[in-house]
Formats: sequence, C-alpha cells, structure tokens
Amino acid sequence: MSRTEWVAVVTGASSGIGRAIAMRLGQDGAHVCVNYHRDARAADDVRREIERMGRRAITVGADISRVDEARGLIAETVRQLGRVDVLVNNAGIEIKHPFLETTEADYDRVLAVNLKGAYFCAQAAAQQMIRQGEGGRIVNISSIHEDLPMPAHAPYCASKGGLRMFMRTICLELAPHGITVNNVAPGAIATPINRETLHNPQLLARLLAEIPLRRVGRPEEVAAVVSFLVSPEAAYITGSTYVIDGGMLRNAGEL
Ligand code: BGC
Repeated sequence: MSRTEWVAVVTGASSGIGRAIAMRLGQDGAHVCVNYHRDARAADDVRREIERMGRRAITVGADISRVDEARGLIAETVRQLGRVDVLVNNAGIEIKHPFLETTEADYDRVLAVNLKGAYFCAQAAAQQMIRQGEGGRIVNISSIHEDLPMPAHAPYCASKGGLRMFMRTICLELAPHGITVNNVAPGAIATPINRETLHNPQLLARLLAEIPLRRVGRPEEVAAVVSFLVSPEAAYITGSTYVIDGGMLRNAGEL
C-alpha cells in the first residue's frame, strides 16, 4: 500500500466514532472520503477540519444499505481522490425492540446498514484495491456485541456477530492480494448512539457498574486503534477483532 498518497473511506463519518476516525486518519496523512447518510452539514465540518490539516477531503452522501450507493461511494472516491487504500466500515444503527415485537422493517433496516452495507462497501473497495495492486486495509467497526448478547437488540447483535464471521471469512479470500481485514469492537463510547443512556443518570450508573474502568470510552480512543490497524506496523495483522471496552466484556465473563 502506497504510504505517500493514501486514501481512506470512512462510512458514517459525520458523527461519533466515524467522525473521530476520519479526523485521525487525516492527521495520520490520509486523504479522506467522509461518507454520510443524512447530515451533509456535519460531514462538511469534518471535511473542513481534515482540509485544515493539509489533506484532501471530500464528502459523499450515500445510504450504504443500498448496494448501488455503496458501489457509488467507492467509485466517487476513486473519481475524486484517485484511489482507495483503506476502508473503514463504521456506519451502523441500533434499534431497541424486544425479540417478540421486532418487525420485519426493523430487522431489515438494522441488518441492511450494519451487515449488508459493510459487505458491499468491502467488496467494491477490495475490487478497487486489487486493481491498484498494492494491497489495502479493511477495518469494520463492530461492537463487543459481536460476542456479548444484549437483550432487546437481537437484530443488532446478529448484525455484529455477522460482521465477525464476515471479517474472518474474507480475510482469507483477500490475503493473497495483500489486503488485511480486521474488526474493532467498541464497548460503550460517548457517541450519539448512547445519547439516551448518557443523559439518564440511572441508566448511566447501571452502565458504569458494568465497566471495570468505570467510564465510557472516547471516540478518539477507538480511532487510535483503527489508526494502528491501518498503519504499516500492522501489516501482519489480519482476521482478528480488537476489543476496546474498558474491560466490559471480561466483566461479563465472555470469550
Ligand atoms: C452499543 C451501545 C452499548 C455498548 C455497550 C454498543 O455496541 O451500540 O448501545 O452501550 O455497545 O453495551
């Protein structure tokens, strides 16, 4: 992978963990495609911040749950930035519904964004990396709920568990092309997905009681793991999940 001029695509990069990753990769020297779904203005802020670092940055609106838009995202990045070296599949949604009440629409939406979106972004990005012939990096932002059950979130947990086996499978198919594939599995991080919990003292206390380090994580801490995994130093790492959760998974006795 060429490190002089390298291009990273980050899905769902207008807020939360995706925003922090886009900024961190910009700091690391990448030109960045900031993908967003709805909030063009927030994505533009991220673009401007990265440009201020002296990199090129673009925003591309795309609903990655639609295969044509996922492919379009990669194609547009190549059109404007010339190549794709790194894909970070970060876009994800969470819908809380007891299993017995889950509708088909809720199920489809969560799986379509979290799993199908990551799948076809990875496919389009890998095809491009193979055309370039210099390898590449794919990182999926999954969750500790790759492993840990979370009641009332069966579609979410299924999507994250799916990302685990998706990553493990494609790392074998992409290794001959010098493309590494890994997952980063955050626990509770201070982002919009946890807004309700973070603003409710009782829910927050209950959450903190489950985290050995007794705090929620910062998006920048997750971005630092991604930064490492896409760096030249991590060239020998593929097929693994990196947990960043303040010890929450250990506390739950999982793995
Ligand atoms: C979920 C959060 C949750 C955290 C820890 C994340 O995957 O999106 O809602 O707080 O896991 O359970």
